[in-house]
Amino acid sequence: MNWLLHRLTNVTVVLRSGILARLICHGLFTVTTLFMKIMLAPMEGVVDSLMRDMLTQVGGFDQCVTEFVRVVDQLLPRRTFYRLCPELHQGGKTQSGVPVRVQLLGQHPQWLAENAVRAVELGSPGVDLNFGCPAKTVNKSKGGAVLLKETDALYNIISAVRDAVPADSPVTAKIRLGFDDTDLALDNARAVEAAGADELVVHARTKRDGYRPPAYWEWIARIRECTTMPVVANGEIWSAEDAKRCQAMSACDNLMIGRGALAMPNLARTIKTGEAPMPWQEVAKLLIGYSGYEISGDKGRYFPNRIKQWCGYLQRQYPQAALLFNDIRRLKVSDEIVSVLERHSSQQRVS
Ligand SMILES: Cc1cc2nc3c(=O)[nH]c(=O)nc-3n(C[C@H](O)[C@H](O)[C@H](O)COP(=O)(O)O)c2cc1C
Repeated sequence: MNWLLHRLTNVTVVLRSGILARLICHGLFTVTTLFMKIMLAPMEGVVDSLMRDMLTQVGGFDQCVTEFVRVVDQLLPRRTFYRLCPELHQGGKTQSGVPVRVQLLGQHPQWLAENAVRAVELGSPGVDLNFGCPAKTVNKSKGGAVLLKETDALYNIISAVRDAVPADSPVTAKIRLGFDDTDLALDNARAVEAAGADELVVHARTKRDGYRPPAYWEWIARIRECTTMPVVANGEIWSAEDAKRCQAMSACDNLMIGRGALAMPNLARTIKTGEAPMPWQEVAKLLIGYSGYEISGDKGRYFPNRIKQWCGYLQRQYPQAALLFNDIRRLKVSDEIVSVLERHSSQQRVS
């Protein structure tokens, strides 16, 4: 009897200490992730308001940035801002309450400043400035990553925008490590800070690197060492493990994720809470939901391409997406694609 009692007490202690250990682990996990911010990356032609809405409903995101608004030599009409950021109609937030900041791209400090003021007046929670776009057409007209060759130009743009918008509206910048090489990476980061930016997102590759892995997260740590502004690490985060490695190598808690969130819609939650990757059945439901969103939005004609593009990203995480892609790749009519989506989703339920 004593023996049994002893065993039971031991089991209880083991159980209790197991629970305690798990609670402590969970506590530590929660404490370390509590202060972490995850941003949804701007992706022109991919992450529009509908995608932002859907991904922020899945959860885990604290901030979104719009596709870039191209500024040349005029104050853009209000409708341009509303088109790229319909969330301005609802206080600059997605339906699930995540703030969406308008991103501007251009080379003229004064025009950028005037358009930044307009974006903020329309309700954007701050303004982000794009110094990372690699597109030839954009770079030819001195916008995006090409400005990384001219530290003074970065400084002039950011300070003009900072001076123009109210002090309580954050002005943030997104850079790559450089254009052809990393020679100016630290000078550029210092200039961003000196110009008064409130935060810097670093996509840890040069323009020449394009989107090819790896991302050089260790460079972000070097930028952190020579600046004091908040820095957000970006590039090549596809899993919770990548996020941890990126945080360790970049010395940044805060992350921005782009393609990874399209490949695994609950990636931000897997990073923050340890949740398992979303099962394919749920992804299939999202795809069907997206078809509803897109078709009922004003994007019906883009839907076939958008869904194929999204399938392309999903294939990285879900083999089922490759089968789906194969079945829809020749289809051009939204309704036909939706029927195939429904068939795939019901087959998944049966299997
Ligand atoms: C299709 C596509 C469109 C993009 N559009 C933008 C953009 O409008 N503004 C911007 O700052 N970055 C843009 N980016 C860069 C992403 O925001 C991000 O920096 C890059 O994809 C690296 O992050 P990831 O590895 O998490 O995807 C784009 C990237 C892709 C692939």
